[in-house]
Amino acid sequence: MSETYLIGLGNNDDDLRKKADCDFVSFWDNQAKQLSWFSPWEKTLDWKPPFAKWFVGGTINASYNALDIHQEKKDEKSAILWEGENGESRNVTYGEMFSQVKKFANVLKSLGVQKGDRVTIYLPMVPELIVSILGCARIGAIHTVIFSGFSATSIKDRVFDSKSKVIITADGGYRRGKVVKLKDVIDDAIKNIDFVEHVVVLERTKNKISMASKDKFWNELMNNASDSCNAEELSSDHPLYILYTSGTTGKPKGVLHGTGGYLTHLYSTFKWAFDIKDSDVFFCTADIGWVTGHSYVAYAPFLHGATQVMYEGAPDFPDASRMWSILQKYKVTIFYTTPTALRMFMKFGDAIPNSFDLSNLRLLGTVGEPINPEVWKWYFKTIGKEKCPIIDTWWQTETGGMLISPLPGLDTIPLKPGSGTRPIPGVNVSVVDENGDDLPANTKGYLVIKDPWPGMLLTLWNDDEKYKTVYWSKYENRYYPGDYALKDDDGYFWLLGRADDVLKVAGHRIGTAELESCIVSHSVVAESAVCGIPDEVKGEVIIAFVVLKQGVNYDSKELAKEISNKIRTDIGSIATPKQIYFVSKLPKTRSGKIMRRLLKAIGNNEKIGDVSTLEDGAAVTEVQQVFDEFQKSIKSNLN
Ligand code: WTA
Repeated sequence: MSETYLIGLGNNDDDLRKKADCDFVSFWDNQAKQLSWFSPWEKTLDWKPPFAKWFVGGTINASYNALDIHQEKKDEKSAILWEGENGESRNVTYGEMFSQVKKFANVLKSLGVQKGDRVTIYLPMVPELIVSILGCARIGAIHTVIFSGFSATSIKDRVFDSKSKVIITADGGYRRGKVVKLKDVIDDAIKNIDFVEHVVVLERTKNKISMASKDKFWNELMNNASDSCNAEELSSDHPLYILYTSGTTGKPKGVLHGTGGYLTHLYSTFKWAFDIKDSDVFFCTADIGWVTGHSYVAYAPFLHGATQVMYEGAPDFPDASRMWSILQKYKVTIFYTTPTALRMFMKFGDAIPNSFDLSNLRLLGTVGEPINPEVWKWYFKTIGKEKCPIIDTWWQTETGGMLISPLPGLDTIPLKPGSGTRPIPGVNVSVVDENGDDLPANTKGYLVIKDPWPGMLLTLWNDDEKYKTVYWSKYENRYYPGDYALKDDDGYFWLLGRADDVLKVAGHRIGTAELESCIVSHSVVAESAVCGIPDEVKGEVIIAFVVLKQGVNYDSKELAKEISNKIRTDIGSIATPKQIYFVSKLPKTRSGKIMRRLLKAIGNNEKIGDVSTLEDGAAVTEVQQVFDEFQKSIKSNLN
């Protein structure tokens, strides 16, 4: 039995869980009533596996629920307490957000954007990013935000797939004191795309940019826009956004989320998990380019009229105290971050956080990857001073919102460091074996979700078939998230990492296939296999094994640099391997499949195990040798 921690917030609503267990459909029906609808729904759930429609016939608008409903009581309330990386700050009220969003919605209309059109957003972490998102939602345009660390080629692929006719970007963004030239990246990305009609450019860094005829400055457009714009009445299943995410196949998948179900999921989980109160100051460190930033920065806090801190830059810039100084400055009460960030803060030592006043904190959360128990305990003691519950929230881009998490706003249960505890009410989760049969307690297996839930993706953009195969083909009528898990004797879930070929580096999802196809597109590379090995801070880092075309003469250092640069320009720097190894062949099965398990074992210094299905055992020996030599050379360099 692992250690438990009981920290209650005085909330206990068993009744809600009982109702959910009894009938999840009418349970969610009741939850949805807490949002503002233009017209009620006729049917709560239309489930034609694997396609679910929630609140059929109801009409709703996300921007209306985020802003209009708060105006009477909260127009003076801070919506965003923004901190620039360079120390600037802005206090954006609900009233100002409302006016900005309506203006921006009119800007979009003036550029010819109509309901259902796609708009690509490539902006730094500034309030205008949320204005853009809510502006799209107001008129029913589908936003597709691209993380500002992605490269021109990644953007090109995504703009091509979504056929966005308008792009919103900035001249630049600040990262570690340097200017990231976002507009230049967009220019490069869309140079051969003729369907992009307009590029809106926010001036953030005032670096030199070139403006073509399709480019327009944000300020000029906003100055001429009216701030009167009613929210469009949209059907509950109207697509709200596309967010591209890596999977096991080459191309990123466009995860498509709807409106009514998604908002219901966010509204409920934000209340249950964060126990949100009017007086709270919420701070989620996620970049809006990822799903956590979509759900729990751009939408959920607004649904509750909450105040949140938004930070523009790197968490350790200009030094290791930045995060804690932000918490102190804005009197943050709820802090939501990643295990990677926590591992980094922990390495910096206790003296830094101890020198700040963190006494306003009352609830802590983590997301994105498994949290090591010792890091959990450090978070609990050093940051939370043993008085804040920690919510370890498990979910995915596809699930829209949390599915497994402690819910201090709903009930108090003992917490176990490293476990997400139980599923949220109204969600039916279990751990099964290869055949789909439920596994006994304490047995590692595959996580599945047995019934539809309101935040679930509608489909993959333009690809219903892939949606069916990726998520619904392993087990009939059950959603397969691709994660290993086990359920312990107390019914607590432990999430044990990816069961497929998706890596999690610093909490970011990277598909091995996407990365391999990028490496193989280098002119001298014949084959490649990448895998993840554990890293003290990032959780996992990437190593790549590369086979070159016959007869290629190369300097391994130079070539490794070239390949890394290629990955940086084709995908983005988050996907660059920590190490690239050159070998003459890769270990494969007789049917030609690369045995990634073996590469991983070698990279992890583990026993290799059964290799009887290998086509050529010499490949393993070579991979092992190359790896060992490299390790030795690192050691001798250190000495
Ligand atoms: C992993 C991030 C363990 C998991 C919101 C999942 C986690 C993937 C946790 C989704 C957690 C997320 N404990 N693992 N609390 N939260 N994961 O789409 O492997 O970027 O499938 O969404 O992150 O990553 P994504």
